[in-house]
Amino acid sequence: MSRARIAVLVSGGGTNLQALIDAEKKGIIKSGKIELVISNKEGAYALVRAAKANIPSVVVPKKALGSAEIFEEKLIQLIDENKIDVIVLAGFMVILSESFTKRYPKRIINVHPSLIPSFCGEGFYGLRVHEAALEYGVKVTGATVHFVNEIPDGGEIIMQKAVSIREDDTPETLQKRVMRLAEWKILPQSVEKVCADIVSK
Ligand code: GAR
Repeated sequence: MSRARIAVLVSGGGTNLQALIDAEKKGIIKSGKIELVISNKEGAYALVRAAKANIPSVVVPKKALGSAEIFEEKLIQLIDENKIDVIVLAGFMVILSESFTKRYPKRIINVHPSLIPSFCGEGFYGLRVHEAALEYGVKVTGATVHFVNEIPDGGEIIMQKAVSIREDDTPETLQKRVMRLAEWKILPQSVEKVCADIVSK
């Protein structure tokens, strides 16, 4: 295999997807190629980013499908049909079941906007993570990229990057800085690392 086939799963704005697209263009990601974008939300701006980069995208609307089982069956069908090697959760706000994560061991990667094991697990997503960090009063936060297993945010850590908290930070300013200084850097680097490992085997 010369390049691993990547699917990126999204739910919202897709700035991490954009970081991956840009990294592929710049050659930072050279051992993998983004082949497919899957969104669980119709109208997610990430879908516009995929279209602009000429990457095929599919919406799998979790709510409309009625059950988590049917939703995951559709995901599996798309992943298998497209011969996907690496699944990247980039702002994907759905917790995947144990039967799903066990199907793709060390093949699912997630980016989380804190230094795991702080401010992570069920209920900690998006802006809520930064609100919790500010409420607690930690002085350093950051981002973590990890493999996904059956424990939410509990899989093996691939990379982490710390970001200092400022006295005047709001959840919004902190979220932006963590994205810019940490997430958009370590997510593409981690994806390259995992893809390089896969293609070398
Ligand atoms: C990012 O900060 C990502 O780390 C976080 O949501 C944001 C999505 O932004 N993900 C989680 O909280 C998952 N637990 P994006 O759609 O612009 O990439």
